[in-house]
Amino acid sequence: MPQGPTALLTATERPEPWENASLLAPAFAARGIATVRASIDTLHLANGRICVHRVDGAVLDLATCERIWILGFGRRGSFLDKMQLLAALPTSVHFVTRPEALLLWHGKYGLAAQIELPHPATWAFDNSEALIETALREGGRFVLKPPGGSFGRGMVVAEAGSQRFAWAARNLTRANAYCLLQRWVPESQAGEWRILVANGRVIAGYHRRAVGAASNLARGGEATCVPIPPDVQRLAHRSALWLAERQIGYAGLDIAGPWLLEANIVNPGGLATLADLGAGDFAPAVVDALVSRR
Ligand SMILES: Nc1ncnc2c1ncn2[C@@H]1O[C@H](COP(=O)(O)OP(=O)(O)O)[C@@H](O)[C@H]1O
Ligand SMILES: [Mg+2]
Repeated sequence: MPQGPTALLTATERPEPWENASLLAPAFAARGIATVRASIDTLHLANGRICVHRVDGAVLDLATCERIWILGFGRRGSFLDKMQLLAALPTSVHFVTRPEALLLWHGKYGLAAQIELPHPATWAFDNSEALIETALREGGRFVLKPPGGSFGRGMVVAEAGSQRFAWAARNLTRANAYCLLQRWVPESQAGEWRILVANGRVIAGYHRRAVGAASNLARGGEATCVPIPPDVQRLAHRSALWLAERQIGYAGLDIAGPWLLEANIVNPGGLATLADLGAGDFAPAVVDALVSRR
């Protein structure tokens, strides 16, 4: 394995102090591992070499890196190009999460289409009629949401057969966009857990409670620091191993009751919240898990 630095590829030129790239760099440094930060949108191919521009402007040949951590996608239009460029790097370069895994598991289809981890029943259609018919046939309360959303954006909770449901179904499938139809889980009313997992290990977590329909902190959800109950810990551990098998080295899990609601695999939030809650700095534990073999 080349003994080069760890490259942290971010969406923005200058990450905020509470973002993963800013919090993880000192933890790598404390382990004697140098990090280089670069915007993922500077990725380019230079006569067989896959390079980025470091923040100081110098060109970095990514094949000289020991490890790469993709901490943001950057511009949407070039997502596929960037993942293909990164996937083409020599196998000696280790990824925290491989680009192929990001391509496959980023978004909400991957979890919805598997049966090993408990996830609410989910359908996906690109037209409102199919959404409306399915909900009427299955009956009850549902969540409608875009497959690639985040921060709870675009999410609507509605009863099958209601006007609100029909409105949301039409709105979310405009221009034939796909929309997920997911069984609403009542356990979410008691709040949910955000658990950070790295390389098959459970690192830490906190509880958060919704103010509206979604518990996302970006939507006004309130976080509290309480010990993780054993059943949540077990599901988080199972999920961590499941993700690690798919070459996903770091994730933020959302768990409500017995359900794994979401696995956020690109730049999940949590480290800064844990620090704000006084739980401590878990960046060193994340780095420890990533550099050690399971
Ligand atoms: N099936 C569901 N039942 C109940 N609440 C849900 C469900 N799906 C999502 N939510 C609520 O909405 C939030 C956002 O949904 P999520 O699927 O995690 O999408 P996002 O990527 O936007 O965070 C969840 O954290 C949860 O509070
Ligand atoms: Mg979420």
